[in-house]
Amino acid sequence: MDIIDILDAFVVADDVNDARGFMKKVKSIFKNKKKMKILGATEKPFAKVAVDGIKKVVEENGHQFALLEKYTDVNDFYAAVADADALIVRSDKVTKEVIDHAKNLKIVVRAGAGYDNLDLEACTARGIVAMNTPGQNSNAVAELVMGMLVYAVRNFYNGKSGSELMGKKLGILAFGNVGRNVARIAKGFGMDVYAYDAFMTAEQIEATGMAKAVANQQALFEQCDIVSLHIPATAETKQSINYDLVGKMHNGGILVNSARKEVIDEAGLLKLMAERTDLKYVTDIMPDADAEFKAFEGRYFATPKKMGAQTEEANINAGIAAANQIADFFKTGNKKFQVNK
Ligand SMILES: NC(=O)c1ccc[n+]([C@@H]2O[C@H](COP(=O)([O-])OP(=O)(O)OC[C@H]3O[C@@H](n4cnc5c(N)ncnc54)[C@H](O)[C@@H]3O)[C@@H](O)[C@H]2O)c1
Repeated sequence: MDIIDILDAFVVADDVNDARGFMKKVKSIFKNKKKMKILGATEKPFAKVAVDGIKKVVEENGHQFALLEKYTDVNDFYAAVADADALIVRSDKVTKEVIDHAKNLKIVVRAGAGYDNLDLEACTARGIVAMNTPGQNSNAVAELVMGMLVYAVRNFYNGKSGSELMGKKLGILAFGNVGRNVARIAKGFGMDVYAYDAFMTAEQIEATGMAKAVANQQALFEQCDIVSLHIPATAETKQSINYDLVGKMHNGGILVNSARKEVIDEAGLLKLMAERTDLKYVTDIMPDADAEFKAFEGRYFATPKKMGAQTEEANINAGIAAANQIADFFKTGNKKFQVNK
């Protein structure tokens, strides 16, 4: 029933309760069409093409877009968010203080996969829906992983003969969006791909046709030449990649981390690398103990800044996905990517 049908029915209604019911329907249509203010708050800005895409999605859906970029003072963030109905952020910290300043906020979307920059408890306490945009930057991260692996097996391009990835056993720890993209590309390299995911059965992993399942995460470390980490940082995974686990790798093992630095027990890994001069560690998330790891010359590499998702394509995809998710949430109530359930 569109609005004209409802008004037609209202005109001929002979019962006052029917008439009231029709007017309520009209009201709810207008309420749903209310113009929302959607704020993009990005200390580290999106590419211009991403901002243009976000603005287009927001305006095409009848809402208003505001942008706060490169802010250096958190008070600017508090002021900008004061009348926002929705918020899009990148790595910006959405703390309880931000939430307290955002009196109208209904939804916050982290344009990206990880959402540890959102205070989920504070969002939930206020009934604010928090979302991420999973999968939008996975290919970018996976390509970086493969690049770091080539770099590692070729001895960081030091002029000495290295080895190849083809035929090597690659273990993927967590078979989510990034893990699957790594598997897809690694198969192209001719690697023998294995995976473990705490929330997937062996059948589910193998049904993708991209990896063979192993029984547990220890088996990955025992069986594979290279282990690539794709677990989120949770209470369970923090510091879980430790001395004992990595120590299971056989001679010449390589650990690659594009997940989070918190999942590594840095003291344990430092101890192990000092004892096992055959092991290499390459990471897209610089450890706190970077200076100590640097002592393992030719066996350690960290990107100077987290680079995995830093591609033009990922940037655009995640930003536009965030805008689409917000527009859909206001239109239909869709909460598919909610992370604070
Ligand atoms: N380097 C970067 O720039 C960059 C960019 C994007 C994502 N990331 C990080 O990469 C990781 C993976 O991202 P994603 O997009 O694939 O996430 P995702 O949510 O798609 O996948 C995560 C997977 O981990 C599994 N999992 C959760 N806890 C586990 C556990 N204890 N043991 C084994 N598996 C477990 C889940 O079942 C899920 O399949 C995250 O840590 C994310 O923060 C880094």
